[in-house]
Amino acid sequence: PYTSQIDSLMNLMTLEEKIGQTVMYSGGWDKTGPKVSDDNIKHIREGNVGAMLNVYSAKGTRELQQIAIEETRLGIPLLFGYDVIHGHRTIFPINLGLAASWDLKQIENSARIAAEEASAEGIHWTFAPMVDIARDPRWGRISEGAGEDTYLGSQIAKAYVKGFQGNDLAANNTIIACAKHFAGYGAAQAGRDYHTVDMSDGELWNTYLPPFKATVDSGVETFMTAFNDLNGIPASGNQSLFREILREQWNFKGFVVSDYTAINELIPHGFAKNEKDGARLAMNAGVDMDMMGNVNRLYLKKLIEENKVKKETVEEACRKILETKFKLGLFDDPYRYSNEDREKEVIYKKEFLDAARNAAAASSVLLKNDNKTLPITKNKTIALIGPLAKDKESIIGNWAAAGDRYGKAVSIYEGLLEYVDEKNIFYAQGCDILSNDENLFNQAIDAAKKADIIVMVMGEHYHMSGEAASRTNIKLPGLQTTLIKKITEEVPNKQIVLILMNGRPLDLSEEHILTDAILETWFPGTMGGLGIADILFGTYNPSGKLPVTFPRNVGQIPIYYNMKNTGRPINPSNPKEDYKSNYIDVSNTPLYPFGYGLSYTNFEYKVTSSGKQLIPGEEITISVEIKNTGNYDGSEIAQLYIRDKTRSITPPVKELKGFKKVFMKKGESTNLTFTITTENLKFYNQQLDFTYEPGRFEFFVGGSSDLPFTHEFELIEEDK
Ligand code: IFM
Repeated sequence: PYTSQIDSLMNLMTLEEKIGQTVMYSGGWDKTGPKVSDDNIKHIREGNVGAMLNVYSAKGTRELQQIAIEETRLGIPLLFGYDVIHGHRTIFPINLGLAASWDLKQIENSARIAAEEASAEGIHWTFAPMVDIARDPRWGRISEGAGEDTYLGSQIAKAYVKGFQGNDLAANNTIIACAKHFAGYGAAQAGRDYHTVDMSDGELWNTYLPPFKATVDSGVETFMTAFNDLNGIPASGNQSLFREILREQWNFKGFVVSDYTAINELIPHGFAKNEKDGARLAMNAGVDMDMMGNVNRLYLKKLIEENKVKKETVEEACRKILETKFKLGLFDDPYRYSNEDREKEVIYKKEFLDAARNAAAASSVLLKNDNKTLPITKNKTIALIGPLAKDKESIIGNWAAAGDRYGKAVSIYEGLLEYVDEKNIFYAQGCDILSNDENLFNQAIDAAKKADIIVMVMGEHYHMSGEAASRTNIKLPGLQTTLIKKITEEVPNKQIVLILMNGRPLDLSEEHILTDAILETWFPGTMGGLGIADILFGTYNPSGKLPVTFPRNVGQIPIYYNMKNTGRPINPSNPKEDYKSNYIDVSNTPLYPFGYGLSYTNFEYKVTSSGKQLIPGEEITISVEIKNTGNYDGSEIAQLYIRDKTRSITPPVKELKGFKKVFMKKGESTNLTFTITTENLKFYNQQLDFTYEPGRFEFFVGGSSDLPFTHEFELIEEDK
């Protein structure tokens, strides 16, 4: 599309201007908001900048756009990119939390709302979704993805792209998405951010690449490179990733941006000799835009003169960037996204805040609820204890750049006030998140003594997860667990509810023993306090399921549900048997498995019919009856897991292949149908062909990944 317009424009452009389109600079912040340095303004004026990041607000973007339009030779509009990750102004739960909702409509809607708000503030492009599969809770950025599973991650990846981009990029309320970080970033060794990734092709293709492929199939407009080294070639200079896989095999037509200074980082990787060499490697690898590295502007022209980069390669990059600008309608009206009236009208709309409240509840996972501790009856007095009980800063999580950490966010304390009279809440901070000071313990013990039930709100500070926030210790930080222990000693026989906010799976083995109920709320966002209160008082029956495994201790990492079996798997009835694949000090099982999450009600499953033979080209159907047998209405996330018994590269012990979220009134039953075709059974074999192999398969449908297989079918040989 737009070929003739792009041709005409390219004919007018100098080589410097073409290179300029491949350059992105960042705004910065001063006390009052985004600010752009004079240096960057000078480069824009000279026509040497194609895009800016970290600039937003209708006014701010309009002013800058005006420079590009009115003061440059050709008046080519700028593209404004920003990290709109889990909401823009109205902040939704962190992405790992949203994934725990397993609710694709809800996730798509969160992206739609984020796009509505961001586009009204002049933003054209979000650096999301992050679709990196992550199986290491030490890695801080596990918080930004959809967790450990390739199938769930791929479905969620599509939902985000659809939500951000909509059906019409030219509409003024859609923004372009960016699949990041290509590729393997989530597999950083030892969970240390930016660390080396070295994995087999089988693992790369079967586990890490499919969510990226899903975004291409959904029409994602851009890709971002990963910071890491992938099997010896840093991703930001990796031709095989960007030219062979992304463009040739997947037919991606959009453009690729480097991560922030990732081209320059090819030098410390030991891959580029200097910045000029980095510019050569990245451009030749298919990285079209240089985010903040300043290397394209400084070196591409010289590299072309020296014949080290083809002029056509740079022209191709420029064309793709221009094409995106055409698609966004920026050549028709460069200011269409910078509308102050729309900005005022759209931001924090009531319906957006309501959606965020609902998402906070839908994303929370009830990990434990002994003796029906939750929901709490309204007439009880509550000791509300913990460093996050009144917090408004961490509750919105990391990567909430335009989110309001102080005024707008609703704390748990404020949320509770919607249900309980202030005089019935005895608040005590109890401790800090990080300090080792026990000074505040007594206050907390006093509050606990006075109340009928103890609610503790604890977790990580938002800075403890996200980029460059890896941890080797994944327990609750500081003295938080000590405080819980102290309260159980000083105030025995009172029920304790633990509400958690954190950006990664934590080691909760002590808390699991010390408390009666645990609600994992991740960082639940702007309306977190209200969404969580809805759960605590039973207005919302929790339905979230873990998108990632919670280990018993850090030594079990990596631990994920779809592991391989090994040649010496344990016998579940004798798990400690010698010379089997186990530990001598801890069980192989996690504390809370993938797919797990409790409800205030119970669901019973029964497979009512299922096909026994799958003939290629046909399908088999699995019919399941689910009954809500408890006393509350509620939603259940029914999950289908399949095991390929034998194949030419070893199969995982189980794989998620389908899921459905259903709402049932108490006592009600629902019939669900899952279909299986050979498409669901395909994998990348040794030759990296995406194929299926005949043989026997087992399956079960249930509310968690750790259930036994109940049924079998056979995929029969095709008639040759
Ligand atoms: O989008 C991010 C990326 O995920 C990490 N580095 C910085 C980029 C832009 O802010």
